[in-house]
Amino acid sequence: MTMKYRIGYLAAVAATAFAIAASMPVAAASGPAEIQAALDAAYAKYRDLQEGANADYIPALAKVDSKIFGIALVTPDGRVYTAGDVKSEVSIQSISKVFTMARVIEDEGLDAIEKRIGVDATGMRFNSIVSVEFAQKALGGPEINPLVNPGAITATSMVQGATRAEVWKRILDFHSDFAGRPLSVNKEVYESEAATNHRNQAIGALMYAYGFIKSDPAQATDVYTEQCSISVNAKDLATMAATLANGGKNPVTGKQVMKSENVPGVLAVMATAGLYDDSGKWLYHTGLPAKSGVGGGIIAVAPGKFGIAVISPPLDAAGNSVRAQKAITLISNSLGGNPYAARSAR
Ligand code: DON
Repeated sequence: MTMKYRIGYLAAVAATAFAIAASMPVAAASGPAEIQAALDAAYAKYRDLQEGANADYIPALAKVDSKIFGIALVTPDGRVYTAGDVKSEVSIQSISKVFTMARVIEDEGLDAIEKRIGVDATGMRFNSIVSVEFAQKALGGPEINPLVNPGAITATSMVQGATRAEVWKRILDFHSDFAGRPLSVNKEVYESEAATNHRNQAIGALMYAYGFIKSDPAQATDVYTEQCSISVNAKDLATMAATLANGGKNPVTGKQVMKSENVPGVLAVMATAGLYDDSGKWLYHTGLPAKSGVGGGIIAVAPGKFGIAVISPPLDAAGNSVRAQKAITLISNSLGGNPYAARSAR
């Protein structure tokens, strides 16, 4: 090797080393003590924050204890870090949309979601009927996506199964595999939402009328309502997020829950639409694909680094937990979670 080539070779090795260091898992870049300290600091900082209010358009959600505040972070090596109340459970609500979308992608491939529903942000509220009107293929308007209600109810209608019971089992089992334990439904929340979800029933009917849903829309809306009522704690949600951060393999149970090649598509929709009309703001501050639920949970995924979840029921005007947004932002940024924040090579 001549001197010129040797210098070029060494430069290439150094560049590779820098690139690897820049994308190093947080477990290697931040030790367990730093991760725990980041969780503890966020918990202490926001424990007494009282902004926002529980969702009340689903009557059972108004009764949930607003003080619940739990933080969990799971790394690809299966370590679980927690702060605050990680035992209390809330209903998963819209966070389930991520996993039902993933179920459909696993069954039918990435194209199925893109072609039938779309993968663009609507910029509108999660249960906007205007977005459905715009999305009519005949009008050629902007698309929707599987993380807003019209797209989510459509995704639920696409889950394979000969009977309602079979469809439901495939959805619940899939969520349980992500969480690493058998999950169950909060019956009170399910019944409360089923008795009051006329708007979602209308959305389901419209999606059927416009040809997006091709089976019974009432059943699709009902199964969607049940999936939103799955009961989870912060650790469940963090493990679900960490499974996405770990290429579809649950880092705690070791089970490959979904194909690694399908994960980036799921994360892309989370990045563009996970926090609804506030998704841009969220991405601007964290860079993380995330998903919120009106039960008060938010999950966020730092690919290759960690999955994090916070539960705190009081929501802001867009329907996203106030304390969860603040705590995840603080923790992720202090641990170098933002995938856009690469270090300079020199
Ligand atoms: O369909 C609904 O209205 C609820 N089951 C879920 C909405 C939701 O979680 C929106 N999230 N921020």
